[in-house]
Amino acid sequence: MTVWIEGATGKAGRRVAEALTEAEVPIRAASRHPAQPTAGATPVRFDWYDKRTWAPAVGRAETVFLKGLDSDDKAAAIIKSFLATIPQVRQVVLMSAAGVDRTPDHAPRRAVELAVQHSGKQWTILRPSWFMQNFDEDEWVFARALREKNELYAGSGKTRVGFTDTRDLAEAAVKVLTTKGHEGRSYTITGPEQLTFGEVAEVLAETSGRPIHHKDATEEEHRRHFARSGRPEAWINHMLHLFTLVRAGVFTELTNDFEHLTGRKPRTLKAYATENWQPTSQR
Ligand SMILES: NC(=O)c1ccc[n+]([C@@H]2O[C@H](COP(=O)([O-])OP(=O)(O)OC[C@H]3O[C@@H](n4cnc5c(N)ncnc54)[C@H](OP(=O)(O)O)[C@@H]3O)[C@@H](O)[C@H]2O)c1
Repeated sequence: MTVWIEGATGKAGRRVAEALTEAEVPIRAASRHPAQPTAGATPVRFDWYDKRTWAPAVGRAETVFLKGLDSDDKAAAIIKSFLATIPQVRQVVLMSAAGVDRTPDHAPRRAVELAVQHSGKQWTILRPSWFMQNFDEDEWVFARALREKNELYAGSGKTRVGFTDTRDLAEAAVKVLTTKGHEGRSYTITGPEQLTFGEVAEVLAETSGRPIHHKDATEEEHRRHFARSGRPEAWINHMLHLFTLVRAGVFTELTNDFEHLTGRKPRTLKAYATENWQPTSQR
């Protein structure tokens, strides 16, 4: 079995790629800017907005790990068209997001899930909660303000989130990709604890020794903050929408799905912060 991994240089896909390579499963690691080849991993160029890259990137892989498109209302149509161009692929594991199953069928992320479910391929959906790695690897979501101002910039109020370590997401992905019995199933992958962003700031402050505090930004402040990224309006609106969902408690739920899949408890924020937390300057 060869697994094709979309978003293979991102926070989640990179770890799925590493975990599969460790498990000696050959992979094709897809992104617009492929990394260098390593043992067992073939980096391939792939762009959702360039159809010519689709079939050559997937090659003869029979299984795909998809993260989909984030802030594009046409994502479901694009993914449907993509899946139709790769008939040899029998199994699709889609990384969606916690709470998407509770949104209307026409909501863009739910429409992506339905496109995969109706593709005629065997499917499994993973729905992670917010990634802990946003704190150090996603420059414009949190990392830059943390690094430059010791500020955890999040218009979240005091609502709690069941943050997920992407290493746990990767471990869950390897399970569903390499063992049987997951066809037609969905798993919500959360961490073990519900934390407010204020509590997250306390953990990051404690482990880094820096005076990190939570900035509970208004929507307007948040918009101005994200606008400094120079990213498209659609991305900014997508991020603001995600914080609306945070405040509505969509990411508060904890599940046992990770433990059910892997036989162990998911990582805590403190474990993530102790092992990893140093804001970087990437992206
Ligand atoms: N972040 C969270 O907290 C969170 C929580 C739950 C679910 N999710 C879901 O996870 C997904 C994001 O995953 P992530 O955080 O791992 O991603 P990420 O770190 O933002 O990385 C994005 C990846 O996609 C590639 N990419 C970007 N644009 C592309 C394009 N047009 N065509 C092909 N590849 C492209 C990037 O590489 P190149 O730039 O080289 O192309 C990179 O490998 C989203 O769908 C989101 O809903 C995220």
